[in-house]
This record gives sequence, structure tokens and C-alpha cells, in this order.
Amino acid sequence: MTLDGPTPREGAALLGPAGRDILRAIEAARDFLAAHSEEELLERVGDTIEEVPAVEHLSKEVFQASYGGRKAGPPDDILTGLGHFFITEQRRLYLDCTGGHYQMTWGYRHPVLCAALAEAERLGIVWDAHSNIPGATVKSLSYRLVELCNPGVEGLDRCDATGVDGPDRLNTVLLGICTGSVACSTALKIMLARHRERTTEPPVVITLEGNYHGTDIFAQSMRGMWPGLIDGAEFVNLEPNDLPAAEAAFRRYGSRVMGFMCEPVMMNREAILVEGDYMRRIRELCDEADALLAVDEIQTGFWEPGCFHFKRWGITPDLVICGKGMAAGIHPLSAVIYRRPLDVLAQYDSISTNGNAPLAAYVALHSIDMIEGDAERIAAAARATEAMAAAVAEEFPDRVKAVHGSGHLTGLKFHRVEDALRLHQRCVERGVWVRAHAYHEGHSTVLCKFALTAGPRAIEFLGERYRDLLAQG
Ligand SMILES: Cc1ncc(COP(=O)(O)O)c(C=O)c1O
Repeated sequence: MTLDGPTPREGAALLGPAGRDILRAIEAARDFLAAHSEEELLERVGDTIEEVPAVEHLSKEVFQASYGGRKAGPPDDILTGLGHFFITEQRRLYLDCTGGHYQMTWGYRHPVLCAALAEAERLGIVWDAHSNIPGATVKSLSYRLVELCNPGVEGLDRCDATGVDGPDRLNTVLLGICTGSVACSTALKIMLARHRERTTEPPVVITLEGNYHGTDIFAQSMRGMWPGLIDGAEFVNLEPNDLPAAEAAFRRYGSRVMGFMCEPVMMNREAILVEGDYMRRIRELCDEADALLAVDEIQTGFWEPGCFHFKRWGITPDLVICGKGMAAGIHPLSAVIYRRPLDVLAQYDSISTNGNAPLAAYVALHSIDMIEGDAERIAAAARATEAMAAAVAEEFPDRVKAVHGSGHLTGLKFHRVEDALRLHQRCVERGVWVRAHAYHEGHSTVLCKFALTAGPRAIEFLGERYRDLLAQG
């Protein structure tokens, strides 16, 4: 069958009057990145790449101010990228030390994932479908997530129902959602529904100070936004790793606690690592209070050999939330993996129309397979990142107070906020794309979360840059 439709217009025409020039610049940047080795690119980080034509790029005048709208100066947004490098509209080459916005698991345009996309099209795998008919790749990804959360359980890798039984196993998947915010709100709604089943007392959610579980109003209320808006629930924020405070909170609220929610590495609060001992005790406290334990693995889930950080703790949460890099940035896709007795929501209680996407799920399967196949190299890069950060901290103890995080997710915590901001600014000026947490009282950390493509050379390069720039005072 052939499909009717208008004669397609040239893509350039869709980008406005300068479209042809813009696409030419993207292609030239693509060719530049493809033609150079990692070492050659590292040597040119921060340079203006003359091989890319200078053209007039689109402004962000119509953008919301917080997204760069009405910002003075020429636009300097992304042209294209490859792995952990990107080139901007002002033709500058950057080393991307944050995996895009922490979601580009394999960096930009990884050839294996590009090939998977092309193969999916050749095979006829559809982009999306009605969520009642999710397709083989979505179903397969669901089994894969259950398999990853229940290591060693027979049968799950065969995509059959063997091994999914049992009320204590993480054996149920809600994959019909796109963004992490919807995944977090799903977990919270499950907690709420479960709480309502067992008591009429107003619920208490216990979280960590500096939590970020997305942009849903309930999740935002948990971090102190919209005070007074939600008065049927109480939010208690604890300092991470402070066990006496956790014990006191559970003692105080008892059966009112509907659940505890945290991310393993607080990428929204200076990359603070939540310790295994702490989480093991939290598990016990949740059990004693008959409360649920939800772990937000949106940042950590796919940045770990073997996937999912919670497995290091030797406990099983009631709900595991993942998203961000699950489909390596190709399309938003997130999931909540939970125990069967918690399967209490109806379809329209929690859904994103684009959630059950067969194409994105196909790419996610490839990405997970790559993470497993590359586990040794990923583990080595995690160790190298930690060692690099530790060496920088040791060399500049008057400025660096501590190394935060774990593995790929690291933060250099500074004594003074100005030092963190200065290092961040100098890094970006020199083409090293790191981020800083310095916009909240007491925050003074430079963050890094390399894509999994980054190896020893890129990590060493970042360490050298940190040292050079800190040595400048
Ligand atoms: C820990 C954590 N939870 C939830 C979210 C929300 O995810 P999304 O931006 O996909 O809605 C994020 C996003 O940064 C996150 O880091």
C-alpha cells in the first residue's frame, strides 16, 4: 500500500529563511566530530572549529526566560554531538561531562543506537501505538526491567511468566509513562492509595532535604513549594544519612507514614551519596511502620554496571522508579517497577499517551544490553572518575571540602560557593561542560556525570582541567 500525502518539503525550508545554512553547519560539525579521534578532539576542546561555517542561528526570543529567552548576545545552543563531545552554534567544541541533561546514557548519536533506530524502521517497528496494544518491544522491556530488579530469578530473561510470582518480588511494571515526573507521581499515588486502604489518618511522606522528584505539584510540595496548598498530607524532609533523625520521624508519625522516598545519589543536592547502612535501616523502619519504600533511580538506574543502584544495598524497595536515560535520550520513557500487591491504580490514574512506545523501547533494550555488555569498562570508568575527583580534592584541600557521589555521579564540594561558581564558569569558558549546584543556601558543588562513552582519557582530561583552573586561584 502506498500512503497519500502532500509532496514533502525540503527539511531546510521548515527551519525558516536560514534553514539551509543551519543544516549545512550541523552537517559540517557532524563531519568534524566523525573525522577526529578522541585525543584530537580533547586537544581542541574550547576551540572555535573553523571547519564549521559561521551562519546566523535562530534566537530564543520566544522562549520562557528560565530557558534562555530574551538572553542578550548571539545564540550558542547545540549544533550536534558525538559521544561525549558537542559543537555549538558559535562553533565551539565542548567536552560534555554531564551526559546532556543527565539523560544521554551513551552520549550523542551513538552508532549502535543509530543503527538500532534504522533497523527498527527497516523491520517495521512502529514509533508509538495505543497503550492497550503495547507491542513486543514494550513487553520485552518490561520483562527486562523486572529481570534487572530481581537478579538471578529464572525465566524472566525468556520473557515468560516464570519467576514473576510472589508478593515480595518486584514483578509488576508500569511502563506507560514518559517522564520521570509522571513516574514519581505514579509511585506517590500508589503509596497514597495503599495508605488510604489501611488507615483514615492523614498521610506523612518522609523524604530527604533537597529532594527532587519531578515537577508534579505533589512532588514539588514535598520540597517545600506551594506552602499550604496541600493540607491533607504532611511532608517531612530529613538530612540524608542521619539515622537518629529518621528513627525519630518514624517514631513520631508511626502508622501515618505512607512511605519514604529518596534517590541514591542526590543529583539535585550536590551529589550527596545516600549510604547503604542508612537505607538498610530505613527499610526496617518502613517495615515496622507498614510504610512503603520508593527509590527514585531516575539519575542512577542506567549509570551503573548491571543497572540500578539499590542492588548495592542488599534490600528490596517496594517501588523502583526509573526514566531519564532508559531510552538513552531518544524519546522520553520511564517506568515504575513494584510488588504485585501494590497494583492498585487504574489506567487513567497514571498514563502518558506516548509512554508505551515500541521504537523507544527497542532502543532502550539495546542501551541496556550495551550497559551489560560493557560492564567492566563502565565499572573502570566509575572508579577512574572517583579517583580523579579524590586526587583533585587532595591537591586543593583549602578549596575542595569533599568529594560527593559515587562512580559516574560525582560532585566536588567546595568550602566556599564563590570557588564552585568560579570553577564552573572557567570550565565552561574552556569548553568543559560541567554544572554547579550553588543556587541554594549552602550549596557549593561542581557536578559531573559523564555519558558511558567516556573512558580514562576523557576523565583524566577533566582532572587536568580542574587542576589547571584551580591552580589559577
Ligand atoms: C531524581 C529525579 N527524579 C525525577 C526527575 C524528573 O524527571 P523528568 O525531568 O523526566 O520529569 C528528575 C529529573 O531531573 C530527577 O533527577
